[in-house]
Amino acid sequence: MINNKIKGFFYGADYNPDQWNEEIWEEDIRQMKVHGVNVVTLPVFSWAKLQPSENEFDFSWLDKILNLLYENGIFINMATPTAAQPAWMSKKYPDITRTDIYGRKRKHGGRVNFCPNSLNYRKFSRAIAKEMAEHYKDNPAIVLWHVNNEYGAYCYCENCRKAFIQWLKDKYTTLENLNRCWYTSFWGHTVYDWDEIEVPYALTEILPGALAGRDGTYFQPIAIDYKRFMSNSLLECFNGEVEEIRKYHKETPITTNIWSISHELDLFRWGEQCDIVSWDSYPSNKEHPSEIAFRHDVIRGLKKGKPFLLMEQTPSQQNWQAYNAQKRPGVMRLLSYQCIAHGADGIMFFQWRQSLGACEKYHAAMVPHAGHENTRIGRELTQLGRELKCLQDKIIDSRTEAKAAIIMNWSNWWGVEYSSGPSVDLTYLDRIMKYYKAFYDLKIPLDIVEPTSDLSRYEIVIAPLLYMVSDDAIENIKNFVSRGGTFITTFFSGIVNENDIVRLGGYPGAFKELLGIWVEEVDALYPNMKNGIKTEEQLEENQKIYECQLICEVVHNENAIVLGTFTEDYYQGCAAITENSYGNGKAVYVASEPEDNLIKVLVEKYCKEKNIEPIFKTNADIEITRRVKENNEYIFILNHSNSYQKVSLGDKLYTDLLKGEVLANEVEIGPKGVVILTHLKGGLK
Ligand code: GLA
Ligand code: ZN
Repeated sequence: MINNKIKGFFYGADYNPDQWNEEIWEEDIRQMKVHGVNVVTLPVFSWAKLQPSENEFDFSWLDKILNLLYENGIFINMATPTAAQPAWMSKKYPDITRTDIYGRKRKHGGRVNFCPNSLNYRKFSRAIAKEMAEHYKDNPAIVLWHVNNEYGAYCYCENCRKAFIQWLKDKYTTLENLNRCWYTSFWGHTVYDWDEIEVPYALTEILPGALAGRDGTYFQPIAIDYKRFMSNSLLECFNGEVEEIRKYHKETPITTNIWSISHELDLFRWGEQCDIVSWDSYPSNKEHPSEIAFRHDVIRGLKKGKPFLLMEQTPSQQNWQAYNAQKRPGVMRLLSYQCIAHGADGIMFFQWRQSLGACEKYHAAMVPHAGHENTRIGRELTQLGRELKCLQDKIIDSRTEAKAAIIMNWSNWWGVEYSSGPSVDLTYLDRIMKYYKAFYDLKIPLDIVEPTSDLSRYEIVIAPLLYMVSDDAIENIKNFVSRGGTFITTFFSGIVNENDIVRLGGYPGAFKELLGIWVEEVDALYPNMKNGIKTEEQLEENQKIYECQLICEVVHNENAIVLGTFTEDYYQGCAAITENSYGNGKAVYVASEPEDNLIKVLVEKYCKEKNIEPIFKTNADIEITRRVKENNEYIFILNHSNSYQKVSLGDKLYTDLLKGEVLANEVEIGPKGVVILTHLKGGLK
């Protein structure tokens, strides 16, 4: 439970009452009750109103609305407003505004325009957090604290440079060590004095947008360390505010709303610091549901499977995409349940009432410009609120029990996408998605873990494009395989250490022994160029040829069994897929990117070997997940298609939680429909 003051799901929105006259507040409350809202987030962007000048705080309006909400049974997710400092602050303390990647010092404006290493920003953000925490000490309305809003903007100013140097001193201790770890003998980068170190940006080592829209760099070790440093600087800002809040609120959980699967922040580190992870999900209508599912699974993984909170989604359209389509009828409800199906214990929206002015006025809200709830979206919101209330605490706190996991790692993400060669198309999340999608299609649950996570509960661990690995990670993965696990990795993995320095002796240096192979060459295929992989009998009885693309490697097999070979080019007949026995387990290598059908064959084979079964077998448009609590399991069946679908349920009897009906044999689900099943008598099997 996020907070036992709310026994069921959190349901509500970002509320900006200070954008409105007070007369409207009563009407807000009325409509909140219509939709079953039990919590609102405020005052996310009200720093200027709460602190009109340096030594003046005004909480009177906030007290008033807070009391009104609480008297009406609506709890508060109390937000510190530190994502948008007041103009007077930027003006008087100019070190607070950011310097961007081109070296341009920003003036006041926009939001998230603060330097995380500005001492003035740190001081003022702590101070407002302390004032609020003290002022609202023992306030029974508060169920959660929400620090800042979507951290993630980097800064490249002189204060950041100084802080970076200190961070490097703590990490590397001596310059000799730093020069060695960074490989500074390349292009005469040797550092003789700490103060010679510049931050990596457009004026030094970064080429903004040079790699198919992503940033390139001349010097990966510096660039990757700066990302680690910036993620940590922003985390220090978060922790500073948390420290102040904790002095007055010992029990209330604290979170920050994470912006998607943010490339800027090492989110596993953030998960460790949040009491509950919360995030903002804004998929476009064009995305496949598996891409949204993947992001939910990453978020759930940040706190090792603990339920999370969906802090923001739009009830319908957004404003910041090029084309802001409405969510089609039923889609908001479907995506809300998808989020719960992957581990959420609350569904919140941005925002409560649609703004009148500025850039978000055409972003949907729970109260539209029409002003009332008698709209398509209004009715959908009321229905969802009612259903979530009826579910009470049934699903709350239940967990996904996956037997398979995919490894994800932020340093690797940075390393892979800063890499100059072998291919600009080597984007990390797309490579992960190839394998994720195979599990998704097979209706087999997956966790997302780090290379150094405890892997003992898993039977299968997959590490697509795990290019960068630390010694600890190698040890951890080897132990997993020795104990009997199946490890699957792909081309261009195990190549470098955590500073992007190549592990010598033939690729993949880190995993050569584990995989029983070595790679002599890594060939990059042009877009639209394909090769083929012919499967061997050990993989499938009816040998077939599948397409592959992107990268093909020239593999020397040493101890492994060959499961597939390339069909073309000068490496025709060479191993493309290998399987090696190591200790009690197996290590599998896929030396190219096969078409989805072949990835599915591989995933199916290894799941079967480990008796990992689909939850139910259905067609592709149906998504199925399971959450388990004590003796109950909850099976979510989500119909992403526009037609009726049937799912066979095997020989057990189930209750449809939303309709209260008993189900046997099969269930039919309408377009964009949702069914949540539980066993008739409760209890597993
Ligand atoms: C983000 C922010 C919100 C709002 C929404 C709009 O998620 O946190 O304040 O701007 O985007 O989609
Ligand atoms: Zn800075």
